[in-house]
Amino acid sequence: MTTAEKLGQLNQMAGGRQIALNSRINEAEYDRVRAGGVGSYLHVAGAEFLAELQRVAVEESRLGIPLLFAMDVVHGYRTMFPVPLGIAATFDPADAELAARVAAVEATSAGLHWTFAPMIDIARDARWGRIVEGAGEEPFFVSAMARAQVRGYQGTDLSHSDTILATAKHFGAYGAGAGGRDYDSADISERTLYEVYLPPFWAAADEGAGSFMVAFNDIGGVPTTANRALLNDLLRGSWDYQGLVVSDWNSVLELINHGVVETRAEAGALALLASVDMEMTSGIYAADMAEAVEASPEIQVAVDASVLRVLMAKERLGLFDAPLAYNDPAREAAVMLSPEHRAAARQVAERSMVLLRNDTGLLPLADAPGRVALIGALADDARSMIGSWKAQGQPEDVTTLLATLQERLGDNLVYEPGAGTRGEADPEAIARAVRAAESADLVILVTGEDYNLSGEARSRSDIALPAPQQELARAILATGKPVVTVLMTGRPLDLEPLDADDATILVAWFPGTETGPAIANVLFGDVSPGGRLPASFPRRTGQAPYFMGHYPTGRPADPDLSKDSARYMDIPITPAYAFGHGLSYASFEYSGLNQSTDELVQGGTITISADITNTSGIDADEVVQLYVRDPVAQVARPVQEMRGFSRVTIPAGETRRVAFTLLPEQFAYFAPSGRFEADAGRIDFRIGSSSDDIRLTGSFDLPASVIADAPGAALVTRVEIEGE
Ligand code: NOJ
Repeated sequence: MTTAEKLGQLNQMAGGRQIALNSRINEAEYDRVRAGGVGSYLHVAGAEFLAELQRVAVEESRLGIPLLFAMDVVHGYRTMFPVPLGIAATFDPADAELAARVAAVEATSAGLHWTFAPMIDIARDARWGRIVEGAGEEPFFVSAMARAQVRGYQGTDLSHSDTILATAKHFGAYGAGAGGRDYDSADISERTLYEVYLPPFWAAADEGAGSFMVAFNDIGGVPTTANRALLNDLLRGSWDYQGLVVSDWNSVLELINHGVVETRAEAGALALLASVDMEMTSGIYAADMAEAVEASPEIQVAVDASVLRVLMAKERLGLFDAPLAYNDPAREAAVMLSPEHRAAARQVAERSMVLLRNDTGLLPLADAPGRVALIGALADDARSMIGSWKAQGQPEDVTTLLATLQERLGDNLVYEPGAGTRGEADPEAIARAVRAAESADLVILVTGEDYNLSGEARSRSDIALPAPQQELARAILATGKPVVTVLMTGRPLDLEPLDADDATILVAWFPGTETGPAIANVLFGDVSPGGRLPASFPRRTGQAPYFMGHYPTGRPADPDLSKDSARYMDIPITPAYAFGHGLSYASFEYSGLNQSTDELVQGGTITISADITNTSGIDADEVVQLYVRDPVAQVARPVQEMRGFSRVTIPAGETRRVAFTLLPEQFAYFAPSGRFEADAGRIDFRIGSSSDDIRLTGSFDLPASVIADAPGAALVTRVEIEGE
């Protein structure tokens, strides 16, 4: 390969934009492909369209190397699943795997080889718009969801034409941006990096994720795109990661803005030397690096290693043997939006809903609930329902909540949008909504943020409901009618004024193509809600970042205001809704706690189990959660960390025994020695229905300290369910 051909392989060009796929593929791009000047395109799609581009690469370029076609296929391709935070709320890795699998089947049928998902950034600040794209705040939980998604996208063999290369993103600590501002600096301790932000990436690498994307931001002044310690020493070195590392959009060029280089060529050199293999969109590697490569043996070595990793990714995908395997228009037509895919999307959407409160037992609704007023523009906002990374999702494919309820309730339904999600409220429209509410026996108020208030570059300084939505909600609540609130959102919100006495609130996130049926099935009790919060809901913006796994401090937060403690004086010490919270139409009793040993020795395991009984008359799901705490260690340990969860379906009146099996390494933390160690001594554990609804507690001992090669949060807890 010539230097230019090598650098071409490392060059990923935008073949279009997210909202205008393929729009930049013109004659000049075909010529670039013929000249071997590009290794990959993103924001392209279509089995037939991409077949021609691939044919040119394979038949008309000197080396005939196939191209990699990439896109952000994040929560569905054409059949849209809930946004990732909603998928996470299923609290079931099987749902995350299913969503990824269906997305892979559809995306690969449209000629795509590579998706920029899963996004596995820990998100602890609800102001951050991209909290919607991940699985929330908890390292163990996000690691489990990361593994599931990698499995779903990549299947067991990446060379199958319905599997897609996954990207664990955004490697580093993208979620730790200051103040929840997107792209902003992460200034975090080494411990926080290793224990909080990196475990999901360790898990994804362990699961075989074919690629990693680096984060835009810097950690303590070191931009991740040029972070040799993180990329070369840790990822390539200690973790022995052999996969492909891609920059983020223009992030190589942005090294100039970070202020660590002056020129494009210097930026390219830093990124290449940090083993960023493929450069997304700024084109520096291909346009500006030839001279530097010729002049520097060190850069040459880096380039060769990167080229090899790009070619290996193409090889893993089977592209050298069958470059057009992903380009079958008949398959594309057959799989898109198939009844099976819609059914899967509906199931995941139903399972993603979180019942925050149901104070008066208003839910589930009776089959004939009388006259119902459906209020809120979001009830009919198909674009919002398919969420921010919509890929090829089409609003016209969506069954909206309005459409479903019209069909279900006929003349007994009256609908008023009431107010928009932005700008000024229209008093007339609110008055119409109030009249509709007053004329009804029951109100379903659909409120929250529209899809464009969360996502990339969508951080908010205030996580309150948008002003017109607040105004509408106040007016509707003031009617005194029974109100069921359905909350559409991509982030935890300050729920003022919804969170009042006797409230009924169902969090629906942005549920996808099957929004209407999924929400209605939960409202009417065809299915009992079983979703849980993957991120705490702070009471107020000023309480953000709020997360469960904080340190205890020397003056732990105390409800008693006369004590000086780590809290705000103007709100309670707890969040509005805690990590893991979510109610059911059923009720469950926990009993029969058992632990297989009192001493967890190196090489051994402990199995902790409990009986969960559905004491109600309806079949429903419970999410059994296991939390641990190391009460005395060399450094302070978080007050609560998750180490197991299981969503289990329990028929009315029946009991299931849920057993979690753990290794001593799962208690390892980033010790002062710079290694992962679990200290000798006691470990406390708690089993419950939520992080703030603990039902059973116990403890065991580690008789001796244990050294591990991975963060405890990244390892897998085995779960067994007996009695099914
Ligand atoms: C920028 C985003 O940070 C990243 O997540 C995405 O994959 C790329 N743009 C490509 O769309």
